[in-house]
Amino acid sequence: MNRIVYVNGEYVLEDEAKISIFDRGFLFADGVYEVTSVLGRKLIDFQGHAKRLARSLSELQMKNPISDKELLTIHRALVDRNDLVEGLVYLQITRGEADRDFAFPENVSPTVVMFTQEKVMSDSPSSRAGLKVISIEDQRWARCDIKTVQLLYPCMGKMMAIAVKADDAWMVKDGKVTEGTSNNAYIIKGNRIITRQVSNEILNGITRSALIKYAKSAEMIIEERPFTIEEAKSADEAFITSATLFATAVVDIDGTKIGNGKPGQRVTRLRELYIEESMKTAL
Ligand code: PDD
Repeated sequence: MNRIVYVNGEYVLEDEAKISIFDRGFLFADGVYEVTSVLGRKLIDFQGHAKRLARSLSELQMKNPISDKELLTIHRALVDRNDLVEGLVYLQITRGEADRDFAFPENVSPTVVMFTQEKVMSDSPSSRAGLKVISIEDQRWARCDIKTVQLLYPCMGKMMAIAVKADDAWMVKDGKVTEGTSNNAYIIKGNRIITRQVSNEILNGITRSALIKYAKSAEMIIEERPFTIEEAKSADEAFITSATLFATAVVDIDGTKIGNGKPGQRVTRLRELYIEESMKTAL
C-alpha cells in the first residue's frame, strides 16, 4: 500500500513523506494528535475533534496553524484520494523543528501530518465478542486531558493486557478507575451509566460527550463519578468508548465475567444509537 498522506501543506506518497530528525515531536513528544473515524466515507464527530485539537494546542502554548475549514478540506481530500470507506484519519501537529533545547523555541513552524488508515469498525470482532480488560496502576503524567503523542505508558498497558491474553487495560488511580489505555470507561447498573467525571486525569472523549447526549435522550441516567474495579465487576454491564471502537462492551475484568460474559442488551443498544445518531451529522 502506498497511501497519499499530508505533510506540511503537501499531498505526497507515504514513502516519500519526510520529517526532520530535529522535529520536537520526535525528540520530546512535543506534539498533539487527533483520531477521527470514517464510516461510509464520512467523518464522524469532526467538529468535536477540531475543537479538542485547538484546546490541546492552546494548553501547550502552541499556535493553531490551521483553520477548522482547512482541516476539514484536508481530511476530506485524504478520504477521497485514498478511497477510504471505513477507518480513520490520524492528525498530528508538533511544535516543529529546532535545535534540541528543553525551552519551547520561538518562531518555529509547526509540523502538520495527516494520514488515513483502514480499519473494520462497524462490524468488528470486538463489537460482537466484547473486550477482556485487566486493571493496572495509572502511571501516566498528571495532564491526561491534553491529547499529546507521549503514549508510552498506554502502549505498555496494552502489552500487559496482551501478555495475559486480555484485550486492554483499565487504569486505576487512588483505587478508582480513570480510563482505558486509549478509551473512556463506563459501567451500567439498571438504568444508570456510571463514568468518571472529566478532569485532568482523563481525556475528555469526543465519543464520550456524544454518547452521553444520546443516552440521555434515550432516558438513561448519567452518573459522573469515579468507580472501583470491585464495583465494575458486580455491574450489570460495562463498556468503553473511543473514536474507532464507538461503544464496545467489556465482558471480563481481571478474569471476572460481567453479566453472562457476553455484550449486554444496553451496551448493544447504545452502540447502535451512537452509530445511528453520529451518522446524521457525519461530514
Ligand atoms: N484514543 N482516553 C484516552 C486515553 C484516549 O487515548 C482516547 C482516544 C479516548 C477516547 O477519546 P475519543 O472518544 O475522542 O476517541 C479516551 C484514540 C482513539 C487513539 O489514541 O487512537
